[in-house]
Amino acid sequence: MLDKINKLLEEIKGLSASSAEEAEQLRIKYLSKKGIIPQLFQEFKDVPNDQKKSVGQAINQLKAAAQETINNLKEQFEESQLTSGATDLTLPGTFMPVGSRHPLSIIRKQIVDIFGRIGFTVAEGPEIEDDWHVFEALNFPPEHPARDMQDTFFITQDPDILLRTHTSSVQIRVMEQQKPPVRAIFPGRVFRNEAISARAHCIFHQVEGLYIDEDVSFADLRQTLLYFAKEMFGQETRIRLRPSYFPFTEPSAEMDISCTLCGGEGCNICKHTGWVEILGCGMVDPAVLSNCEIDPDKYTGFAFGMGIERIAMLKYQINDIRLFFENDVRFLEQFRAES
Ligand code: PHE
Repeated sequence: MLDKINKLLEEIKGLSASSAEEAEQLRIKYLSKKGIIPQLFQEFKDVPNDQKKSVGQAINQLKAAAQETINNLKEQFEESQLTSGATDLTLPGTFMPVGSRHPLSIIRKQIVDIFGRIGFTVAEGPEIEDDWHVFEALNFPPEHPARDMQDTFFITQDPDILLRTHTSSVQIRVMEQQKPPVRAIFPGRVFRNEAISARAHCIFHQVEGLYIDEDVSFADLRQTLLYFAKEMFGQETRIRLRPSYFPFTEPSAEMDISCTLCGGEGCNICKHTGWVEILGCGMVDPAVLSNCEIDPDKYTGFAFGMGIERIAMLKYQINDIRLFFENDVRFLEQFRAES
C-alpha cells in the first residue's frame, strides 16, 4: 500500500493542466468522494494494525499534496481570467489628489477666528445693493466721487441698484435690524470699476467690523486692532494709526502694521518706510447711527474694513492680486498644507 501511495505522490507532483476545466477534472479524479484518494481511505481499513500509523500518515500527506497542487493549478487560471477583463479588487486604487483651500478662504477663516475669540459674531449682506445702504446712509454726500459710474458698477439707475463697492453697507443692514450692543464682522465680496492690474482688481474681498455699545472709545478701537494685528502677523507686530477721512467715521484713520518682511528696517514690500497699510477705521459718525435709528447721544462705536487680498498678499508674499482669481492649480496647490 505504501508503494502505491508513493507512486501516486509522484504522479501528483507532476500534474499539469492547460485550463480551469482540466484542473477541475483533476480535482474530481483525485479528491472527489469517489476519487482516488478517498478510495485509499476505504482501503485503509484493511491495513494491518502495525502499519496503520505509517500508512495513515502517508495518505494524509498525499491528500494535502493533492489539494495544494490542484489548488495551485486552479489559481493559475483564475489569475489569467482576471487579466482578461474582470476587476481585481486587490489592485491598488486610483490616486485621487487631495484638494486645497483657496488662500483667500484660509485668510478669511483666520480673521473670523481671531475676532471670534473676542466676541465678534459673523453676519453677511447682499452683493447687489441700493444707493441707501452703500452710500446714502453712510453719509456720502450726493456729489461724492465714489458714486460716480467710474467707480461703481450700476445695475439700474433711478432707482439706483448697484454692486456694493465696500462691505460697509452691511453695517447699515445690521444696525437697521439689531439694536446695540452690536459686535460683529462682515466678510464678503465687493466690486469696483477699476482697471485690472497687479495691485487692483474689479472684484475683491473685504472684512468689515462693527462694535456699537455705550461708552465705546477710540482706545477700544485701537486695542482691538492691535490684538488683531498681533494674532494675524505675530506678537512682535506693532501698529500705527494715521489720520484719514471716510464719510461714515469721525475721526477716521488708516492703520499700518510694522513691515512683516523686514520688521521695520525698510525693504521693498514697505517701500523702505518700515510700515504697510492694512485697513481703514474710525468712530462711527453720529449721523450714521441716526440714519439707523440708534441714539447717538447714548451709543458710540467703531468700525473698520480691510481687504482680504491685501492681508493674504502680505502674509504669503504674493505680488500680483490677479493670481487669486486665475485659479491656476500650480498656484493653488501651494496652500495644500493649511486647513
Ligand atoms: N469701507 C472702507 C473702504 O472700503 C473701509 C472702512 C470701513 C473705513 C469701516 C472705515 C470704517 O475703504
